[in-house]
Amino acid sequence: MAGISNEEISKIRNAASIVDVISSYINLEKKGKNYFGVCPFHDDHNPSLSVSEEKGIFTCFVCHKTGNVFTFVQDYENVSFIEAVKIVANKVGIKFDAGIQTESKYQAHYDAMELAVKLYQNNLKSKDGKKAREYLEKRGLTEEVINEFEIGLAPNAPDTLTKLLKAKKIPDNILIETGLSAEGNILYDKFRNRITFPIHDRQGRAVGFSARIYDTTEGSKYINTQETKIFKKGEILFNFHRAKSEAKKVGKIIIVEGQMDAIRVYSSGIKYVVATMGTALTKEHIEMLKRLNVTVILCFDNDSAGETATLSVGEELTNAGVDLKVLRLSMEKDPDEYILKYGVEKYQDAINNSINYFDFKLNILKRNKDLTKNSDISEYVKSIIKELNNSNDEILIDLEINKLVKDYGLDKNVLLNQIKKPEKVNIIRVEEKPKVKLSKYHKLVEALIFYMINDIKYIKLFEQELGSIPDDKYQSVIEDILAFYIKYNYINIADFVSYEATLDNYELVMQILENNSSVELIDNDFVGIIEKIKVWKNENKINQLKDELKETSDINKKLEIMDNIAKLKKRDV
Ligand code: CTP
Ligand code: MN
Repeated sequence: MAGISNEEISKIRNAASIVDVISSYINLEKKGKNYFGVCPFHDDHNPSLSVSEEKGIFTCFVCHKTGNVFTFVQDYENVSFIEAVKIVANKVGIKFDAGIQTESKYQAHYDAMELAVKLYQNNLKSKDGKKAREYLEKRGLTEEVINEFEIGLAPNAPDTLTKLLKAKKIPDNILIETGLSAEGNILYDKFRNRITFPIHDRQGRAVGFSARIYDTTEGSKYINTQETKIFKKGEILFNFHRAKSEAKKVGKIIIVEGQMDAIRVYSSGIKYVVATMGTALTKEHIEMLKRLNVTVILCFDNDSAGETATLSVGEELTNAGVDLKVLRLSMEKDPDEYILKYGVEKYQDAINNSINYFDFKLNILKRNKDLTKNSDISEYVKSIIKELNNSNDEILIDLEINKLVKDYGLDKNVLLNQIKKPEKVNIIRVEEKPKVKLSKYHKLVEALIFYMINDIKYIKLFEQELGSIPDDKYQSVIEDILAFYIKYNYINIADFVSYEATLDNYELVMQILENNSSVELIDNDFVGIIEKIKVWKNENKINQLKDELKETSDINKKLEIMDNIAKLKKRDV
């Protein structure tokens, strides 16, 4: 992580009260020494999240998520660690150099993308961009909007961009891996003579392009960057990074199909809009939206594909527990055309009048039915009952039943008899990552490390008694712990987590914390762990010697090894 020291991160963490910061997201209540709240990281119904001001960490005793103030913000806001540090710094009023950037594994990729954005933008502004500028103007995109969305034009030549980027010392493999160039006889540009719309990740880094034809009707209307190391389509919604804060502020987010729609809605002043770029939503998309904790308004195109997509996406979002509304436009094809024709006020009215997803489904069920005819009423009511039986929203069920009673003069009991009683089990649906199944020794090693992160006395004991463990991955974490200890001469979970976030073993450390969140530190237990790991180390050494024994043909060497094995075996018992 270039430019930011651990000392600085630690200063920010110490200045921030973890209770205050978490309270700004969820309600916390004090019980005894700790604070408790409903855990935002799983489908929690009771306050399972405990926050310790003293230790500077939070832990959920149901889903076992744990970490420090930065980890909380990182996961809650879906941002990088360094972004989370910035957010916390901001909350406590510490000035934090905005120039600091995460030094990512993919920095070269991001740099290449940024250069490409600039080059396309310049090309649009050059004399070669005249026709494209005219096209954009005709579509009602002002210069301001073009600048804000960094719209550009890919040169009308085989390899202009590739050559320019190569001249800027971008290596071939990066050009290929970002999808900017493709390999043929020569390295050539993927996008040629198309208007380019950069697509950003949640942190606002350009990671891909959608590129549109403008002076022809031949070929695909749009071509997009293929899936790359930094362009994970399943995790990206167009405009999410711009829309996120406004969405939280107003408590809603609009999802449209195309980036042109998102650009139109956004630049008309309705900033809480994102586009799916196609109509499928992945699990990650749903998770992103759910995390926002706002009402989602689906506003897909006014055609049958748009309706079908509303139904399928709607089903997934409702199942995930997202509060969902639907806005079906009439007359025009999509939000872009609608706003151009009727103005943004009319669109805003339509948003305000968007209907509940359930009512949207009822409208579809009603379609082509003559509700003056008993047979159609019966069919209609049955289909509603079927929908209600898929819902576990008891209030909704009650409201709908009453409506049917009133609208069609039905007997309430007859209807209620058809409703399945929801099973009254309190299911805790923990969205778990697939749990890594640990061997007995790995469990011990994780416990050992957990102790060491908590108190330097365990680090000292480890150094005296073990010195190392026979597993490279975990040994590497231990080395980080030792380095931290040597540098700062103390340790606690909260600071070690920040420290590790800048190194390679962050994931593993988080796993260790999660697996051990309910462990209490007891000296005798630690001694027991050390003893067991010693046995394991010994076994390991014996196995290693046995391998050596097989490999050597020198008789003296063999004898020596056998002697050593015998000694080790004796130690075992
Ligand atoms: N799309 C695509 N490839 C296509 C067509 C569409 O990737 N050949 C994606 C684009 O991201 C597009 C979205 O699907 O934004 C919605 O498609 P469509 O409704 O056809 O595009 P519009 O947003 O209406 O685009 P425009 O107004 O520029 O015609
Ligand atoms: Mn359109």
